[in-house]
Amino acid sequence: MTQVQSGILLEHCRFAIYIEAKVQGELDDVRLGCRTFCQSLAEIQSRFPDDKVGAVVAFGHDVWRDLSGGIGADELKPFVPLGKGLAPATQRDVLIHIQSLRHDVNFALAQAAVAAFGKSLLIEEETHGFRGIEDRDLSGFVDGTENPKGEKRAEVAAIAEGNDDAGGSYVMVQRWKHNLTQWQRFTVAQQEEIIGRTKLTDEELPAEQRKETSHLGRVDLKEDGKGLKILRQSLPYGTASGEHGLYFITYCARLYNIEKQLLSMFGDLDGKRDAMLRFTRPLTGSYYFAPSLTRLQTL
Ligand code: HEM
Ligand code: MG
Repeated sequence: MTQVQSGILLEHCRFAIYIEAKVQGELDDVRLGCRTFCQSLAEIQSRFPDDKVGAVVAFGHDVWRDLSGGIGADELKPFVPLGKGLAPATQRDVLIHIQSLRHDVNFALAQAAVAAFGKSLLIEEETHGFRGIEDRDLSGFVDGTENPKGEKRAEVAAIAEGNDDAGGSYVMVQRWKHNLTQWQRFTVAQQEEIIGRTKLTDEELPAEQRKETSHLGRVDLKEDGKGLKILRQSLPYGTASGEHGLYFITYCARLYNIEKQLLSMFGDLDGKRDAMLRFTRPLTGSYYFAPSLTRLQTL
């Protein structure tokens, strides 16, 4: 059985660190960095066995092609701007996603990552995420409710056995910046219409009340009667007085599902845009491929 990287399927983590970087220098140093980081991760996991420590190292299209000799991840491609630039593309080469129940442990692991990769990576984004009260996004709505649970998580997020990519996963990240002053100008009923669920009780709005442009109307997609599922691991980030929002991150066995939802949100399918864009905007956007742990250690 191929091993999925430990940060992908975790449930109920409380904190995360997201690092995005460009490769500078030799690919062999990146390969060595991956192995060294996996050792540090294993050490920290055995030192804090109850804290659900997990991590993922994933690669952008160009670097993956060079690292893998062009084998596998056939769906991977560079992120391109969507919605006439409303969703910018800031594709980087490497994503490191760390999550657990503890910010202090995450921080130590992030330091180990920085040390492991050394000068082989130029870090361009580092974001620290935290779970909101009652699993709520900073908008006040519960986030993650319809995420796959238990065994379903691997079915949705991990590529099945039987080919080079087994145990791997496609990843998309977008750092969204909320304008909460703007958001609070809406009544709760208007906010519920924008999201497509109730705020306090987190229930789906009845079908006849659900707007096509609501967030749920844009992303709860079906094809041939089957839901296009993805596994989300997003968390709020930022400062109370300054920039804040949602660091959106999703894993899926098929890039297709993620892309379809994005096209739908940004008006590139039917000209209709996600009503959430009235209070929040993505500042970044990248696709990555997270190989299985086995493959990561033998690149
Ligand atoms: C559901 C918030 C971006 C895909 C939800 C829900 C909320 C939410 C409150 C309802 C509860 C739940 O099931 O989790 C946000 C916010 C975002 C954001 C605040 C950015 C600022 C995205 C993006 C995608 C996405 C970029 C996909 C590309 C989904 C999916 C669901 C969902 C698939 C579940 C739909 C269902 O099956 O009912 N989101 N979301 N979201 N979101 Fe988002
Ligand atoms: Mg649903």
